[in-house]
Amino acid sequence: MKTIKVRGKKRLGGCLQVQGAKNSVLPILAATLLINGRSVIHNCPDLTDVDAALKILIMLGCVCVRDETTVIVDASDAANYEISKELMSEMRSSVVFLGAVISRMGKAVISYPGGCELGPRPIDLHLSALKKMGVSVNDADDRLICSASGGIRGAEIFLTFPSVGATENIIIAACLSKGTTVIKNAAKEPEISDLCDFLNKAGAKIKGAGSSTVIIEGVNKLHSVEHRVLPDRIVAATYLSAAAVTNGEICLKNTGAANMLSIIRFFDDMGCNIKTNGKEIYLKGKEKYSACLDITTGVYPAFPTDAGPVTLPLFLKSDGSNSITETIFKNRFRYIDQLNKFNADITLDGNTAISNGIKELIGANVECTDLRGGAALILAALMAEGESVIYKTYHIERGYCNIVNCFAELGADIKEL
Ligand code: EPZ
Repeated sequence: MKTIKVRGKKRLGGCLQVQGAKNSVLPILAATLLINGRSVIHNCPDLTDVDAALKILIMLGCVCVRDETTVIVDASDAANYEISKELMSEMRSSVVFLGAVISRMGKAVISYPGGCELGPRPIDLHLSALKKMGVSVNDADDRLICSASGGIRGAEIFLTFPSVGATENIIIAACLSKGTTVIKNAAKEPEISDLCDFLNKAGAKIKGAGSSTVIIEGVNKLHSVEHRVLPDRIVAATYLSAAAVTNGEICLKNTGAANMLSIIRFFDDMGCNIKTNGKEIYLKGKEKYSACLDITTGVYPAFPTDAGPVTLPLFLKSDGSNSITETIFKNRFRYIDQLNKFNADITLDGNTAISNGIKELIGANVECTDLRGGAALILAALMAEGESVIYKTYHIERGYCNIVNCFAELGADIKEL
């Protein structure tokens, strides 16, 4: 998919099943390397980032089979420890394979994930933790050669920042290590708990997942496992926002509402009629809102950085002054220039995006800058008078399954070109 055309101002309505969480299935796919057998993963979303992760597993010697939203990985014959530069660049978050490859093979050769649309993606926290666990890390031109000839050993690790990826890498590296690993100031995102649920079902001994102290007692082996990936809370936020900005109504099924409290609170504070029974979320939008909110993104359970772009368009329906302050990624607001092409009036003041009241959006031709910023442009096009064309929509395919069909089923006039 490269380009999408939208004719706006249609009220969206209907029910939607939420896809499995991209940021949960990616570390879980990496963790399948620890299992000398089969991992059956249900509710696995069909995304280009997942395709890239499966390509890495196949490159490492695994057998991967996908049947609709079920993926089966057999890592019995995994034998390679090198991930190519091409695959590392295809998916920034492939660094999450590092701990798994070192644990399984005793060695890993990767390249630095490099910057992405959101800015530099350093991995210093990953590397300093792995070094504490007995891993030697050497730079050779732009390749990173890591090895743990004597095996990975447990350690006490304090993360100076509760990095999601670093927490995941340490947990994966610690499962089959000698001794016990304690992570202090660990990330608490629901996707970490889902990864630990998967690993514990395979025989790992992990306590404290979802809290800031995670304790992993190394075991000798992990066995075949079956797991259902938790629902994607950012995709859910995107579809709730689409109903909110088009004065529509939506019922989301199979959501993990308990993991979305800050997002549900946002729509409630904005003035939407939003209700949930824990599994389903119902939202009814309004023609216009009068809230004045100043949102600050943060690590879980704060309002998620990824939810910022997909909820900001709602500010354009509110006659108050609303703002979002981003605290996680430097380049989170690259999509704002494109958003303002719709006649929006979002001003940037440092890491704060400010919306000054209701704007009648006009259809525009725009380019996606990143995954969630691209989703924001679709939401703006759905609100705008007239026709919009959105280019470089491959960014969106990284995180959304069949987004055009999903919006069309909700009543949008949208098609791929
Ligand atoms: C994960 O990225 C997600 N990706 C991101 O979603 C999400 O936005 C982010 O967590 C925050 O919730 C996946 O799970 C695949 P971090 P991750 O390590 O692990 C700095 C998407 O497209 N940092 O918590 O990379 C880093 O620069 C993505 O779905 C270091 O300084 O996030 C950033 O400023 C976007 N050194 C901050 O921490 C390190 O060693 C948060 O990074 C690691 C991170």
